[in-house]
Amino acid sequence: MKQQLEAIRNAAEKELASVKLPAELENLRVKYLGKKGELTAILKQMGGLPASERPAIGVLANEARTFIEDHIAQCGAALKEHETESKLSNEKLDVTVPGDRHKIGSRHPLTIVLDQIKDIFIGMGFNIAQGPEVEFVEYNFDALNTPQNHPARDPQDTFYIEDNILLRTQTSPVQIRVMKSQKPPIRIIAPGRVYRSDAIDGTHSPLFHQIEGLVIDKGITMADLKGTLDGFAKSIYGEDAVLRFRPHHFPFTEPSCEMDTRCFVCHGKGCRLCKGEGWIELLGAGMVHPNVLRNCGIDPDEYSGFAFGMGLERLVMRSFGIDDMRLLYENDLRFLSQF
Ligand code: PHE
Repeated sequence: MKQQLEAIRNAAEKELASVKLPAELENLRVKYLGKKGELTAILKQMGGLPASERPAIGVLANEARTFIEDHIAQCGAALKEHETESKLSNEKLDVTVPGDRHKIGSRHPLTIVLDQIKDIFIGMGFNIAQGPEVEFVEYNFDALNTPQNHPARDPQDTFYIEDNILLRTQTSPVQIRVMKSQKPPIRIIAPGRVYRSDAIDGTHSPLFHQIEGLVIDKGITMADLKGTLDGFAKSIYGEDAVLRFRPHHFPFTEPSCEMDTRCFVCHGKGCRLCKGEGWIELLGAGMVHPNVLRNCGIDPDEYSGFAFGMGLERLVMRSFGIDDMRLLYENDLRFLSQF
């Protein structure tokens, strides 16, 4: 029996040495120390021993149990430590590794300049108005004093949806919508997309943006038009901006004008930007035609007003020195991420 105990002890020691997993360890514990384990089986045979041998064997058996228990405990501790270590080394975090950069988008140049323009006019007491891009022919032309036979209605210049509906060719129909729905005093700007059937090139696109302006009140004169647009030009191009108003014609304003700013690059000498002219055209404007007021139910003897319209793309191209309009629509990140 003494030899049996020693054999068990040695076998247990050997097996424990090669344990790698907690489950294996548990199996060994059951194998040696469990109720049906090998050591227990031997202890059960103790009853058959002569009384004189029992104490000595009992001591040996207890030693063997303690030995195995100790080894199992040690082995368990070692496994745990190993597990913790491998966990730590797997979860290692190197805070010096460069991070993943998240690409943050930026505002489109058209939006940057439009926001600037909105801020300037809101600062002067204007509200922002909007109208649909799919518009009645009546609002786009007739109500704007542009009769049926006017060259601006040439179907080749315009995308018609139906006979009486088209993609608006200008933001001016918003004037009609605002005057029909609001009582003066009116002070609005109306930015938005407009459409013309132009072929695409460096300075033309069938879709572009305009910003319309409209002021209606008692006693509004050309002086208000000039003062307002002068304030606008100085806000956007600096206090030393110089303006020039040239006579022009629009069916819905009388008198009409175009406004130029002295070239802010060459200060009038002539350069590439102003194409040698020294002046840069900014917008069309004029006093709202009495017929247009009447078409909207506003009495031209009581009220007067001015309107203006400018192309956003041109302003943007000038602000950022962009020489091809197509860059604004191509969504090339190499271009867009510069703003
Ligand atoms: N709608 C005109 C255009 O597209 C611009 C304009 C607006 C002119 C308002 C005068 C008054 O050319």
